[in-house]
Amino acid sequence: MKFGNSQIVKEKKQELGEKSSLKSVDLLSRFLSSGHSDENFNIDIVISFILAGRDTTSAAFIWFFLLASKHPNVENEILKEINDKSEAATFEEVKDMVYTHTTLSESMRLYPPVPVDRKEVIDDDVLPDGTLIKKGTRVAYHPYAMGRSEKLWGSDLAEFRPERWLETRDAAAEKWSFMAKDPYTYPVFQAGPRICLGKEMAFLQMKRVVSGMLRRFRIVPAFEEGIQVVFIAHLLSKMKGGFPVRIEERV
Ligand code: HEM
Repeated sequence: MKFGNSQIVKEKKQELGEKSSLKSVDLLSRFLSSGHSDENFNIDIVISFILAGRDTTSAAFIWFFLLASKHPNVENEILKEINDKSEAATFEEVKDMVYTHTTLSESMRLYPPVPVDRKEVIDDDVLPDGTLIKKGTRVAYHPYAMGRSEKLWGSDLAEFRPERWLETRDAAAEKWSFMAKDPYTYPVFQAGPRICLGKEMAFLQMKRVVSGMLRRFRIVPAFEEGIQVVFIAHLLSKMKGGFPVRIEERV
């Protein structure tokens, strides 16, 4: 990020102060214009927009499009599903994109946008398995490792297989039924009372983007000769050097 979050808030306030009418219709402007003056609150809002809401879904797309391009059978299933929806899919249609939902869930199992998440214990506590943890201890849960655990996912854990999320398939009606995993098995959005607030929104956005893009274009990886895909786990799951792609229009 080029600027710190406080800088973003400061600049936006200045911009709003200079303009008599609200030309800028972004969410931060709306928060500031509606009288939220607490600096920390506004900085937290910026963090939520940028980190929680935007960077997570873009990290998910890197791996989703890579895996979809490497598994044409999966991409074809998605295409079958999106091709019978309208060009700008409606809310009801997006909800009906079960296979696309499944594929996103499977790609985030292997490449969770938040690969590891750390917490600090504020008071002495006991974990569900009886482990005592003292105030000040740092604990972490590891969605990346858990998504690759044989105990949780079986011996084919390394395989990209969206079908593992499908409970039944009404072959006649070509209807899939999505089998959600409990969030403690699949903590990609965290679990418990502080589970991601934007989970449903994220799926909605991602399914609309996937359907809008794949319907018209093929996303073809365009790595230079000899370049290996390297997974980087910082705050978010990234690809070393970025994900170079060629966008080809479908004919
Ligand atoms: C694929 C996309 C996403 C993933 C994988 C994801 C994952 C997560 C995770 C792991 C946390 C817990 C962070 C922590 O406690 O340290 C979290 C929290 C949160 N997420 Fe998401 N997120 C995604 C998209 C979104 C979107 C689109 C929004 C907003 C529209 C959003 C809003 C939030 C908020 C507000 C929290 C804080 C909840 C709380 O602390 O009570 N997220 N998310």
